[in-house]
Amino acid sequence: MLVIGLVASVIGVLICLQIDWFPTQGSAQAEEIDTLYDVLLIVSVPIFVLVMTIAIYSVIAFRAKPGERGDGAHIHGNTKLEIVWVTIPFIIVSALAAYGWIVLDDIEAAKADELVVSVTGEQFAWSFDYPAENVKSNELVLPVDRPVHFEIHAKDVLHSFWVPAFRMKQDAVPGIDTQTRVTPNREGTFEVVCAELCGIGHSTMRQQVRVVPDSEWEAWVEERREGGAAPEEGESPLAAGREIFTSAGCDACHTLDDADATAQVGPDLNQLAAVAEKRVKPKNAEEYVRESIVDPPAFVVEGYSGDTMPGNFDDQLTPEEIDTLVQYLLGLSQTESGK
Ligand code: CUA
Repeated sequence: MLVIGLVASVIGVLICLQIDWFPTQGSAQAEEIDTLYDVLLIVSVPIFVLVMTIAIYSVIAFRAKPGERGDGAHIHGNTKLEIVWVTIPFIIVSALAAYGWIVLDDIEAAKADELVVSVTGEQFAWSFDYPAENVKSNELVLPVDRPVHFEIHAKDVLHSFWVPAFRMKQDAVPGIDTQTRVTPNREGTFEVVCAELCGIGHSTMRQQVRVVPDSEWEAWVEERREGGAAPEEGESPLAAGREIFTSAGCDACHTLDDADATAQVGPDLNQLAAVAEKRVKPKNAEEYVRESIVDPPAFVVEGYSGDTMPGNFDDQLTPEEIDTLVQYLLGLSQTESGK
């Protein structure tokens, strides 16, 4: 039994360590957390194997012989065994708890030169506020290798702010300020996910975080502060509009073929021209679309609720960006209706 258990444990541990459990390591914290998981696996697998080996062995070795009718032996405990099976797990669990505590304490410690980012979750989008830089954005952009202190809030219901590549996850709770710390150490684009069932659009509450070199981040901050986001040289208004549509998270709730958006929380924007026809005149179509972005409850499309769409897009987007977005959406639906 011992030999079988030992061999099975070694095989089990080897298989577990071969499996690629984790996404890209995108933060300094990721390595520590992945090592913690590996240690948990190495400790848990032999315990599982030991319990199963004893259980299976007992079922086979102590089964009733053919014709055996009597009761089994009456056994009233075994003090030595009980001391062993209480003490060993107690030591293992305490050691693991202490190890987990040390890792968490290290990860959550305040770092020098932290960048503070205030994260707000609401049905169904994340928005980001950089108080020291005086910048608000629907896109999360972070400089590589600088510690970030996220202050997390929720406007309506529970959400959970999670960047799998960073490993850290924290609930966003209405009325409570939560926080987490992370040091992104890999440039690239990673997913921001909501990990708490928060309503019909929960699965679409996904945005992106861009981790960029420090100089690029500073340029981005400067551009946001100046209300920039003017289409780049040579960029078509169509591409600029599409980019704002996606980075502002519109695609989390709306369908729009041009942007590969298929969500159905809000009205289908392929039909925008037809809907805009029903607006209260004499407002023109452009004024109507702008109003729908900055003040969603002003005109509610039949079959939808007026309080689902966040009302803070005039905070999150610059006037130029809203212009670009309006032209983009109307331009698309005009080409479509002209077909
Ligand atoms: Cu927000 Cu799920």
